[in-house]
Amino acid sequence: RGAPHRVRNPMSKPCAAVCRPQPFRQPQRQHRGGQGVFGEGRAAPVIRIALTKGRIEKSALEILKACGYDVGELEAKGRKLIFRTGNLEIVLAKAADVITYIDRGVCDVGFVGSDTINEHGGNFYEMLDLGFGVCRFALAGLRGQDFYSGYQHKVVATKYPVVARKYFSEKGVDCEIVRIDGSVELAPLLGLADAIVDIVETGATLRENGLEVYEDILPVSARCIVNAVSIKLKNAEIGEFLRRVEEAKA
Ligand code: PRP
Repeated sequence: RGAPHRVRNPMSKPCAAVCRPQPFRQPQRQHRGGQGVFGEGRAAPVIRIALTKGRIEKSALEILKACGYDVGELEAKGRKLIFRTGNLEIVLAKAADVITYIDRGVCDVGFVGSDTINEHGGNFYEMLDLGFGVCRFALAGLRGQDFYSGYQHKVVATKYPVVARKYFSEKGVDCEIVRIDGSVELAPLLGLADAIVDIVETGATLRENGLEVYEDILPVSARCIVNAVSIKLKNAEIGEFLRRVEEAKA
């Protein structure tokens, strides 16, 4: 759905030139930046930022801390989902939902893995490679097997069907893609698939289950994405936030 996300230089001014004409869409449910859900402060617009829970959460908090934000409440969180620190309102969400919230304009900024960006796309700017959450997409399967040998119909299980389809279509390999939602490593072990396309970080999950990488597909890391309207409405605040993040990660 929609146009692919756009990668741009955060230091350049937002301008019409980088915004390709978009098909008609319902007006975005842009959040009113001034107050945040806790209604604090009227001075500067609040930046609402969606952070991906789980794998990259700790590094995301580290970088916000290095930017000077107090993230103590998030580090000690229970089941709470929205937090306020300085001019940030922080929302914790699943990766695919981070993309949806930025795409739909209810959050201004998102920290999310490029694996999810590659899979879901969307209408937003990708502003920064955050340099953490580094891993890779890989084709993997049972140790010692050759995925490409033989002529039989090949089945590949994955949580990333878009990425997998694109990969095999670019290679000109015809195979069936089966979507699995968790522990995709089970698929070759149970005989459902000849291989998997998944993210590999340390390689421990593959190793401990008798699997190995056949081919690396694409590097993955956490990215900072920004809603296309927010970058105009809150240009100064988001520009300053990105500058602080860039400095903090240096
Ligand atoms: C990912 C991926 C692998 C594992 C790879 O799952 O799907 O299972 O991490 O990491 P490793 O190479 O360091 O072992 P994740 O832990 O994100 O959980 P999920 O299955 O809930 O997506």
